[in-house]
Amino acid sequence: MNNDQLAELAKDIATKAYAPYSNFRVGAALITDSGNVYTGCNIENASYPASVCAEDVAVVKAISEGEKKINTIAVACIDAESDTAIFPCGISRQRLAEFDTESVLVVDKSGYKTYKFEEILPYNFKF
Ligand code: THU
Repeated sequence: MNNDQLAELAKDIATKAYAPYSNFRVGAALITDSGNVYTGCNIENASYPASVCAEDVAVVKAISEGEKKINTIAVACIDAESDTAIFPCGISRQRLAEFDTESVLVVDKSGYKTYKFEEILPYNFKF
């Protein structure tokens, strides 16, 4: 799967979001070192902190299937009002750092921009 397809998939999967509280639907699609693709959407909860981000759902699916390394993740917020790209939140970035993610595709209405992971989370926490 190429980056264009990954970006499209992130938008598609965002339509599956369960976001009745924020009405802000997010989708993520990632490809691992082995070439497998995993998707996720945000899933909110009436107890707000129990909500999970789209990126985290995709990471949980991938790693629990035995994947070890994430190559690229595309993230799409299909309800963003502004034309400004919406980046993964800090906690999701930290989760992605754990699995040596290389690139992030930030998807918006007009397409997507590609970032090296280090650009969006320099000096990430590891020990
Ligand atoms: N959200 C994500 O899914 N990913 C992010 O990186 C940032 C925020 C979700 C969480 C919540 O369901 C909604 O967006 C509004 O914060």
